Amino acid sequence: MKKKVTLIHGDITNFPVDALVNSANKSLLGGGGLDYIIHKKAGPLMKAECVRLNQEKGGCSTGQAEVTTAGDLPAKYLIHAVGPRWLGGESKEPQLLCDAYSNALMRANEIGAKTVSFPNISTGVYRFPQQLAAEIAIGTICSILPQHDQIAEVFFVCRDAENYLIYKEILSMLDDPKIQIKISSVE
Ligand code: APR
Repeated sequence: MKKKVTLIHGDITNFPVDALVNSANKSLLGGGGLDYIIHKKAGPLMKAECVRLNQEKGGCSTGQAEVTTAGDLPAKYLIHAVGPRWLGGESKEPQLLCDAYSNALMRANEIGAKTVSFPNISTGVYRFPQQLAAEIAIGTICSILPQHDQIAEVFFVCRDAENYLIYKEILSMLDDPKIQIKISSVE
């Protein structure tokens, strides 16, 4: 069965999947941007699990990912992936962003998620250049997805038109026999 990678232009917190990936920070206690919206919408159960992870494990290192319940969000699980802050490109930011995507996908596979949604990690508050981040996100996911037996489909959910058009251009040029690419119409 071919794996699927689908591009969506919309709000990731309204898009039903098994595992929803959050652009988290190392504390896992919420922050601004998407993290703020997710913590607000997920509710107290998810918050309590994040507090426990913060207390027991000190949160989550950059490039890593932790799983909690998704609470009131339209998903079974939340995967809190910590991307790197852009510091100019000389502090291993590309590798750390790649790690964040691959570790989040590995966690999703471990919990048996069939569908996973990703935001454009690190391209907001963390100022990672959108084009490079998109190339890393798509390159990482498309190269490792075939080895993840549980996962059937990955959704890249872009809120802003700029990221959506960048992803659309890269994905429309992709030609991988193991992966079926689908580009949704703009919302
Ligand atoms: N649906 C999909 N994508 C969204 C949504 C949404 N509802 N809201 C924001 N985004 C997009 C932004 O447009 C951006 O492209 O998510 C991407 C990541 O942006 P941020 O939320 O700013 O996260 P990031 O750049 O990864 O920085 C993480 O910011 O929010 C804090 O606590 C967080 O410290 C952490 C840092």
